[in-house]
Amino acid sequence: MLALDELFAAALAARTHAYAPYSRFQVGAALLSATGGIYSGCNVENAAYPVGTCAEAGAIAAMVAAGERSISRILVLAEGAGMVTPCGACRQRIREFAGPETRIEIANKNGIQATFSIDELLPESFGPATLHQAEIARK
Ligand code: THU
Repeated sequence: MLALDELFAAALAARTHAYAPYSRFQVGAALLSATGGIYSGCNVENAAYPVGTCAEAGAIAAMVAAGERSISRILVLAEGAGMVTPCGACRQRIREFAGPETRIEIANKNGIQATFSIDELLPESFGPATLHQAEIARK
């Protein structure tokens, strides 16, 4: 599948730029937008530890900065035999721009290890519609 190969290559390339001097845990992410654009990101740590950002956050920010709002597929690539799934905060970040069809691919250097939907990673989630419902109820 061409898109998946491209995403894999983009995440692998982004990971080589990861700035992770503190954890030494490099992560790359790449996403395919609804219009076919590919955006990538890597983790960017900081001497003030909590300020560091995840690879997924970088890829999503690049997508939004390009004027896009919808993730068709996102691939997260890290090292090791075990799976590195998005952290809780990144699940919520993905949730904002995902739909039921969005695929979340977990990979290491050898390839894809697993694929999830956002509902599998973040069930019963809070999202834009939840806020909207609350606004309507207040009127
Ligand atoms: N990290 C990511 O970039 N994405 C994930 O899905 C998991 C964790 C980063 C954050 C931090 O720079 C390092 O990995 C160790 O937690």
